Amino acid sequence: MLSEALLVSAPGKVILHGEHAVVHGKVALAVALNLRTFLRLQPHSNGKVGLNLPNIGIKRAWDVARLQMLDTSFLGQGDSIALTPEKVEKLKEVAGVPEDCANHECLAVLAFLYLYLTICRKQSALPSLDITVWSELPTGAGLGSSAAYSVCLAAALLTLCEEIPNPLKDGEATSRWTAEDLELINKWAFQGERVIHGNPSGVDNAVSTWGGALRYQQGRISSLKRSPALKILLTNTKVPRSTKALVLSVRNRLLKFPEIVAPLLTSIDAIALECERVLGEMAAAAPAPEHYLVLEELIDMNQHHLNALGVGHTSLDQLCQVTMAHGLHSKLTGAGGGGCGITLLRPDLEEPEVEATKQALSGCGFDCWETSIGAPGISIHSATSLDAPVRQALDGL
Ligand code: MEV
Repeated sequence: MLSEALLVSAPGKVILHGEHAVVHGKVALAVALNLRTFLRLQPHSNGKVGLNLPNIGIKRAWDVARLQMLDTSFLGQGDSIALTPEKVEKLKEVAGVPEDCANHECLAVLAFLYLYLTICRKQSALPSLDITVWSELPTGAGLGSSAAYSVCLAAALLTLCEEIPNPLKDGEATSRWTAEDLELINKWAFQGERVIHGNPSGVDNAVSTWGGALRYQQGRISSLKRSPALKILLTNTKVPRSTKALVLSVRNRLLKFPEIVAPLLTSIDAIALECERVLGEMAAAAPAPEHYLVLEELIDMNQHHLNALGVGHTSLDQLCQVTMAHGLHSKLTGAGGGGCGITLLRPDLEEPEVEATKQALSGCGFDCWETSIGAPGISIHSATSLDAPVRQALDGL
């Protein structure tokens, strides 16, 4: 078992095209976001296991000796045996987590305990350690923050227990694991996501593990071989919404007006495929202004389709209008009904124009980030390579 501290980070995600349609078997394109979750794992010999999640005010510690005594054999091997809701209930019982644990604070603790107990139990004794996780991602905004958390936990614990090697060589600032090791990280992260979300599709943890851009359809996930580095404005309208209720409302509209709604879904599928084709072209040759024009048209058409599906919101209309006043094109991302939107930033844009757009959006009460998509997936870092604000956040300063 390793004794030095491990520092890992994993990205969040946005859906470029295909939200809602993907529920009905169509293609979705998801990309890693340049907003990341950072985890520091410090091995100890003090007989304690600590979990600090400063973003959500969690600071918990357990005695290793007490955890060692828990009978967790019902969890099976974790990576090969599906984690059922019954097993999650049983885990709550043995770990002394409240039965009504359903908020994200409680579920984050439960996911940690699950991954710690199942990954580390192959060791002769459970390890003593301290884990701190800090994220640039807002929670509950549909940006894959829970997946990034699970991916970081899986990668750090698997490395600590030497189930996968530490790929960081002396003198290197950052490194990544091999495809085979990433498969294992993703498998375990998916189990962590199941603790938190019950029955997720798996697209969020896959994007967070592999990074870049992924195509997702009916459970099949494939990495886009090439994708250009696009810049976007990501806006959180902060309007709360229920993904479950929105997905149901689209289903009901499809049942009520099949002749009208099915072609919308088919058209969204075609938009996702066209976007994939254009991204491929942009990555193969130097991106041209025409490519950005096509991407903007696709964004506009999809946003109208999503409104026709009934998942728009006045806050998202406002986002589209404000950005359009600055010549920029936006669409909702994720479930809609509020939540987040994305705005494409063409490379020819001058910084003052971007700044003015950001200010106009902040004036509407929205949170706004200028970021790039197609970020690297789970990575491991040397202590000195992280920016000072990240180090301070992990130090709780
Ligand atoms: C939510 O991020 C995306 C939806 O398509 C739901 C889903 O795919 O499960 C709305």
